[in-house]
Amino acid sequence: MASSSSRSLSMCAACVMVLVLSVASATAGSVRTSRFDELFQPSWALDHFTYEGELLKMKLDNYSGAGFSSKSKYMFGKVTTQIKLVEGDSAGTVTAFYMSSEGSNHNEFDFEFLGNTTGEPYLVQTNVYVNGVGNREQRLNLWFDPTKDFHSYSLLWNQRQVVFLVDDTPIRVHSNLEHRGIPYPKDQPMGVYSSIWNADDWATQGGRVKTDWTHAPFVASYTGFQIDACVCPATVAASDNARHCSSSAEKRYWWDEPTVSELSTHQSHQLLWVRANHMVYDYCSDATRFPSIPVECEHHRH
Ligand SMILES: *[C@@H]1O[C@H](CO)[C@@H](O)[C@H](O)[C@H]1NC(C)=O
Ligand SMILES: *[C@@H]1O[C@H](CO)[C@@H](O)[C@H](O)[C@H]1NC(C)=O
Repeated sequence: MASSSSRSLSMCAACVMVLVLSVASATAGSVRTSRFDELFQPSWALDHFTYEGELLKMKLDNYSGAGFSSKSKYMFGKVTTQIKLVEGDSAGTVTAFYMSSEGSNHNEFDFEFLGNTTGEPYLVQTNVYVNGVGNREQRLNLWFDPTKDFHSYSLLWNQRQVVFLVDDTPIRVHSNLEHRGIPYPKDQPMGVYSSIWNADDWATQGGRVKTDWTHAPFVASYTGFQIDACVCPATVAASDNARHCSSSAEKRYWWDEPTVSELSTHQSHQLLWVRANHMVYDYCSDATRFPSIPVECEHHRH
């Protein structure tokens, strides 16, 4: 009797814990959905958008590109979208998916998909801006043709690391090295954005291949929008948002769990594989551009 009642008591305690946790994540405004218009809105060239059920298509033609942005700003969590990039000739075009804060000291995490002539591979350029300064480009080709099917592209952001993922495979990690005196982006709410535009002055084969407008419109397709992150109301000060979006004695957010504070062994192996087989450029090893190695490159293990 005694043992069974103490078991039901402890189960009850567990129930309360679960309730508290789900209330905490509900107040965090954590959102998980796949509908474009719940999370995002077109930010320019509304006539360059088409909706086909769960599918969104955004086009670039010789008149305009297009872009969309999240309705809310966030701190920490994970954002994902599935993208099918421009088919056929995409030379000169760039499709971007990124998070960014506002202002001259902004932080930014970028995926930029650089188009190519028919049959030649897309390049994925990633970049990280901290306090308004970027110049941290990496480039890789992919292990699949990103124009044939939808693939998921994600940004995982917490106080320890920013991870860029392609189909859940990490392709880049930007670690928090504040203990070495290196600034880390963790104090500004960020919006989520995507756009397609003409960048034929630099994007394809170093700008040598120009956009062939006879092949327009250039169409990028999207589906599977997911944001599982902490919503930061614009009316709330950044420092209050930062506190609210960080775990404390009362609330525990998944993005603060030890399991996402660094890559798992399996993920580390995946990242090594990507770097060995698919990376074509890394600012950390560009001695022409950076005669003295950027300070975070000395400490980043990857
Ligand atoms: C844009 O392209 C269309 C079709 O190729 C062409 O008819 C039109 O003149 C072009 N417009 C401009 C502003 O270049
Ligand atoms: C385009 O294809 C060429 C030739 O295969 C390749 O060198 C280049 O990296 C590709 N990507 C871009 C964006 O230029």
